[in-house]
Amino acid sequence: MVDIFIEKRLASMKPRSHARVVAMARGMKDVVNLGGGDPDFNTPGHITDALIKALKEGKTHYPPNHGLPVLRSVIAEYHGQHGVDWAPSEAIVTAGSGVSLFVSMAGTVNPGEEVILLEPYFMAYSNLAEYVGAREVGVALDEDRGYRLDIEALKENVTPKTKMIVLCNPNNPSGTVFTEEELRGISDLVLDNDLLVLSDEVYCEFIWDGLKHVSIASLPDMKERTIISSSFSKAFAMTGWRLGYLLADEAIIKRLQKIPIGYRTNTFVQLAGVEALKGPWGPVEEMKKEYDRRRRFMVPRLDGISCHMPEGAFYLFPRIDDLRMESETFCESLLRKKKILARPGKAFGVTGEHHMRIPLIKPVEVLEEIAVAIEDHVNKSSR
Ligand SMILES: Cc1ncc(COP(=O)(O)O)c(C=O)c1O
Repeated sequence: MVDIFIEKRLASMKPRSHARVVAMARGMKDVVNLGGGDPDFNTPGHITDALIKALKEGKTHYPPNHGLPVLRSVIAEYHGQHGVDWAPSEAIVTAGSGVSLFVSMAGTVNPGEEVILLEPYFMAYSNLAEYVGAREVGVALDEDRGYRLDIEALKENVTPKTKMIVLCNPNNPSGTVFTEEELRGISDLVLDNDLLVLSDEVYCEFIWDGLKHVSIASLPDMKERTIISSSFSKAFAMTGWRLGYLLADEAIIKRLQKIPIGYRTNTFVQLAGVEALKGPWGPVEEMKKEYDRRRRFMVPRLDGISCHMPEGAFYLFPRIDDLRMESETFCESLLRKKKILARPGKAFGVTGEHHMRIPLIKPVEVLEEIAVAIEDHVNKSSR
């Protein structure tokens, strides 16, 4: 009945495949929550100090609509280190990158156009594509080659209706850090077919094995065709602060600014964000080291389960297909029997089925307990 009051697109959105397990966990006690990607670290002290100072100094008034100039300026400078000359006016500050992703897609994609998502993908892209009335076209990263980009598969899926390729670099949940060669393959397609890239770079501080973050915007002629979405949530463990942003060429930004959505996040949060980007960067380095320790502990620890070593971000995406059980069913029984809440692989695209996602947001001792519980559950379920 309520659906008659709700806008048609919204009313017809399909339920998410992790909704059932998340609902089951509600009201359960002592659940180990691996449902989201909220780091277990606290925000570094110099950032919280900056917020308190700003509050005490009365920085409690409206900020400008698209962010404090000083913050837009340090964001442009920070992303400048990836080889692109961004002007402060090309950055818009948002209340978390959920908002910047929304603005990027809602402001560019028309109903009926196609949006290519590289699977496994961060769930929000699929929800957004559905919401704007786009057709989601999933292209699987090649799991057998460590989730590398299959450029031929990508090419085959570009049609006259394709509008945008969404790239999460490093990728949540596969941990893929895209190489310059892979990005060149994407940019050739983008330039040949007049496409746009939405490049989600929220994990670009967490990359290991001597690899380097390459932003697709830095490739020739790509700045005009790329919208970067990013956030303070992961790099600085600031998930609760709600501070994100997007960067795009001035011509695109000017148009996106017309979207009548409340962009503004708190003035004092933005001022603390300035200090975060100015540094010191020691605390970020520490978090990076700890995530590295966790991945190097956990992947060999799960040796009975096929699990690829991520190169970036902070997730594992092991296969559980020996069980001949759908990922949703597996995660529900894991919750019931072991009190571990994890997202079923299907939530990350159809080819994510028979996987689960394990975020490395717990200390090694807890990861050990999680590994024991998962192994035990897998063994019992496969009998
Ligand atoms: C790839 C990716 N993009 C964006 C977000 C959203 O981040 P924010 O806290 O800025 O909304 C997340 C959160 O998990 C993420 O994994």
